[in-house]
Amino acid sequence: MIKEFILALDQGTTSSRAILFNKEGKIENVAQKEFKQIFPKSGWVEHNAQEIWSTQLAVLTEVIAQSKVKLDEIKAIGITNQRETTVVWNKKTGEPIHNAIVWQDRRTAEYCQAIAEKGLAKTIQEKTGLLIDAYFSASKINWMLTHVEGARELAEKGELAFGTIDSWLVYNLTSGKKHITDVTNASRTLLFNIHTLAWDEELLAIFDIPASMLPTVCSSSEVYGETSTELGSRPIPIAGIAGDQQAALFGQLCTQEGMVKNTYGTGCFLLMNIGKKPVISTHKLVTTVAWKIGDEVQYALEGSIFIGGAVVQWLRDELGIVRHAREIEDLAMKVDTTEGVYVVPAFSGLGAPHWNAEARGTILGLSRGSNDAHIARAALESIAYQTYDILQAMEKDSQASIKELRVDGGATQNNFLMQFQADLLKTNVVRPAITETTALGAAFLAGLAVGFWKDIDHLKNLWQEDKTFAFDEQGDYSQRLKEWKRATETVKFWANY
Ligand code: G3P
Repeated sequence: MIKEFILALDQGTTSSRAILFNKEGKIENVAQKEFKQIFPKSGWVEHNAQEIWSTQLAVLTEVIAQSKVKLDEIKAIGITNQRETTVVWNKKTGEPIHNAIVWQDRRTAEYCQAIAEKGLAKTIQEKTGLLIDAYFSASKINWMLTHVEGARELAEKGELAFGTIDSWLVYNLTSGKKHITDVTNASRTLLFNIHTLAWDEELLAIFDIPASMLPTVCSSSEVYGETSTELGSRPIPIAGIAGDQQAALFGQLCTQEGMVKNTYGTGCFLLMNIGKKPVISTHKLVTTVAWKIGDEVQYALEGSIFIGGAVVQWLRDELGIVRHAREIEDLAMKVDTTEGVYVVPAFSGLGAPHWNAEARGTILGLSRGSNDAHIARAALESIAYQTYDILQAMEKDSQASIKELRVDGGATQNNFLMQFQADLLKTNVVRPAITETTALGAAFLAGLAVGFWKDIDHLKNLWQEDKTFAFDEQGDYSQRLKEWKRATETVKFWANY
């Protein structure tokens, strides 16, 4: 049997992973390493960029050693990454000038507010598909240029490089030879015009960022270069790059217009394929590049929920009502309904479609008989309600109704949540056999570029369903949806009182 593999590097917010896929698209081996989360001040989140690289290199080496594969059996590497997180490094030394500023970091919120107050929101949204927010990279780059001593002068002299995590990994994998990114990562910076697919001078001027810092933008599936022989005896082609949520959309084979996936991780990220033309949202979603393969570009509408599965960690770690996250399903199932209890887990504000940074979490509707099971059930249901809110906005923006929701991520193992999600949406929820769809998407993109897999139709044959949660046609959730809406309105009222 010919042994040939694709290696996916999945650089996430809390860990670096390397996953080896075989020709059938099945996982051969996984290696994972967590790294330090740095919180210098309230609302600030940083990573040590060198630690990101060292953990990523360590898992790459480990997965190859574990699997006993030869380097020439790995036909390509695909990269997928936490998006927006910003690294700036010195082109001469390759040293970062500051810790990476992570997507969750809010330090530039006021600066973004000031840009919005200049009346630039419309221009920026039309060009980038995004809202002006500290979440995206541009204000983070500006912060480094303003606050790191000497950075602005070096940048003006063309001596600094900016990159999202994909750029940083490629730069290191190629021993500094390549400074590139792909269209999906570029589309999360607030500097990239999603219509022309190029860095935009007007946006660079707004955020005061020299063009010389920016990486060359490539497609999501092509041979960008190869790993340096300093890392191993044989070079491996690097052939696929996509931000993690776009990679998951591709890994779920949501390749046709109207197809939607939801990744249930710490937060939830819903993306809908909207085809070849970018629709600019009028319902507070963002428009983003889904991928570019050859000359063909696909776009997506995206809605982010800040607290998804993390609400279960909160029940475990802060309230202590379960010892393990997996116990939550049994606890929630002890009651048939929440008896009017609603949990709104706005611990760090509400994301799409509300975008309310001041909102905070709340439990509403408690009665003398409310117990841990009601709260557990309400917490799980809150994940599904938040997803419902985003899908409503997506249907309005796209003027299409969703036929099924493909799901991935840790919380999809919770059958109660998946069934409730289907019933609430009145849409079937489909869980694939491989829920590592982020890494799979990166592997698919790389594999297509080197001919490991022939085309998207070939990939469709590899994607397998684990279970469909068919929705209950008789169920009437209208009253509960009204109450959920009132609960979120209450949270917003409290925040802005
Ligand atoms: O936009 C942020 C997103 O890419 C982070 O994903 O999976 O690393 O939390 P994750």
